[in-house]
Amino acid sequence: MLRRPRRNRKSQAIRNMVEETRLSVKDFIFPMFLLEGANKQVAVDSMPGIYRYSTDLMLKEIEACMKLGICAFDVFPVVEEKHKDKTATKSYDPNFFYLQSLKRIKEEFPEACIMTDVAMDPYSTDGHDGLVEDGKILNDETLDILGEMALAQADTGIDIIGPSDMMDGRVEFIRDILDENGHEEVSIMSYTAKYASAFYGPFRDALDSAPKAGDKKTYQMDPANLQEAIIEADLDEAEGADFLMVKPALAYLDVIKLLNDNYELPIAAYNVSGEYSMIKAADEKGWLDGTRTMLESLLSIKRAGANVILSYFAKEVGQLNQQGLL
Ligand code: PBG
Repeated sequence: MLRRPRRNRKSQAIRNMVEETRLSVKDFIFPMFLLEGANKQVAVDSMPGIYRYSTDLMLKEIEACMKLGICAFDVFPVVEEKHKDKTATKSYDPNFFYLQSLKRIKEEFPEACIMTDVAMDPYSTDGHDGLVEDGKILNDETLDILGEMALAQADTGIDIIGPSDMMDGRVEFIRDILDENGHEEVSIMSYTAKYASAFYGPFRDALDSAPKAGDKKTYQMDPANLQEAIIEADLDEAEGADFLMVKPALAYLDVIKLLNDNYELPIAAYNVSGEYSMIKAADEKGWLDGTRTMLESLLSIKRAGANVILSYFAKEVGQLNQQGLL
């Protein structure tokens, strides 16, 4: 036998040399849930190890993560029912706690990369990403609200806007508003191929943001479709997106690969709440080794072609890295 592939696997030292993909703490964005008020930390029951924090405690959590080398955070607001309305007005009210907190976070940690989410669902009594009229999600009318929301977020000093709403034309719409208002430096990480997925369940628990009626299938993509991701990616590239995101990640590795093979823009993947919870649940039951399953899953996302991984595992990855176990 001239070729024995096992020779390149015979010791850890050699395996390390031939390793094609390596995770780094620098790959990660840590999604976090922000609460109104002070001194509050509330567990998300369906996401063991994940909490909603008030600003003061979130600042501490961010500091702890930064010590572990995790420097990018995607902050989502938990909006109380009393603040919700049909048109998501709190989403662009500069006095609303979320926008105030973002400002504080950037003041305390100017070197951290802070990302925000643009979509109406957390602020809307309908729980949809867009404006609802007679059971329909209106596209162009929603853009005006998303534009206000993105501008208000950019005004706080954050670094990356993440439109997660899947309305047509929103990347260009937001880019124009940002530029007209002197925010040329604020990036857009577009949720390019965001699928209508069952894996978002625990996230909607965390934010209490599930749709009150219907589902998101008229705007989020059909899980059956791959070619359609190219249509979305072409548009986002043309409209000025700085990153193309695929979401969820694990059931969509082919989509990550397709975009990475065909576009020069950096590809991000969102390892969503349900993907996190499945591993945690199996680990709690003793059915899987949670740490090894986590690392293997994250590695597969990077191997498929993601440069950036949004994951609730980010802090754990940082902890493993600190222990020299990454
Ligand atoms: C809001 C939004 C969702 C997620 C991120 N932004 C939920 C949804 O579209 O219903 C899901 C994130 C996760 O599951 O971790 N538009």
